[in-house]
Amino acid sequence: MNWSENGEAANTAPVGEEGFADPVSNPWGTTRNTGADLHTKRPVRTYPEPAPLDEHGPARIVALCNQKGGVGKTTTTINLGAAIAEYGRRVLLVDFDPQGALSVGLGRLDPRELDLTVYNLLMQRDVTVEDVLLKTDIDGLDLIPSNIDLSAAEVQLVGEVAREQMLGRALRPSSTTTTSS
Ligand SMILES: Nc1ncnc2c1ncn2[C@@H]1O[C@H](COP(=O)(O)OP(=O)(O)O)[C@@H](O)[C@H]1O
Ligand SMILES: [Mg+2]
Repeated sequence: MNWSENGEAANTAPVGEEGFADPVSNPWGTTRNTGADLHTKRPVRTYPEPAPLDEHGPARIVALCNQKGGVGKTTTTINLGAAIAEYGRRVLLVDFDPQGALSVGLGRLDPRELDLTVYNLLMQRDVTVEDVLLKTDIDGLDLIPSNIDLSAAEVQLVGEVAREQMLGRALRPSSTTTTSS
């Protein structure tokens, strides 16, 4: 493998082929590069640009979840969502944390002042996705916000059958809609 002066490996893999340019020199393998080398000599991966869309839907759902706090779930959600939206995809971010960090991080709103959040969507049958959806500053990137109200849901739903399916059910009408753009 060719290493450039700044430590980046020259990428000789064909565009779109996932993996290392030279698997034999894979620095995550056991044959080469341990310790600090892991950070300095890193092969460059290439990813194909997604093809333009002429229609949207049904949606692909990506859930970022980890019981541990402070591991980057919210940061990843914001950046992944914004990056996908920049490619022309329509993205709906769903904040499912009563602390509302995603809602705060995306805009200038104060979740404590919101009357309608994902909690209402979950608990009230007459509340729809459109009722709680907020536009963000990024084109194609929308948000269903959350706030401390959501902390009550866990207690209120404890006796409900299939409560783990309630969010999916509430989102389904918008996730299965096909629209042209
Ligand atoms: N890739 C990263 N590198 C450095 N710091 C990060 C990275 N991702 C997140 N952080 C920081 O870690 C902290 C926790 O991230 P956050 O996304 O709020 O975690 P979580 O949602 O899992 O609780 C934040 O201060 C954030 O800025
Ligand atoms: Mg978070």
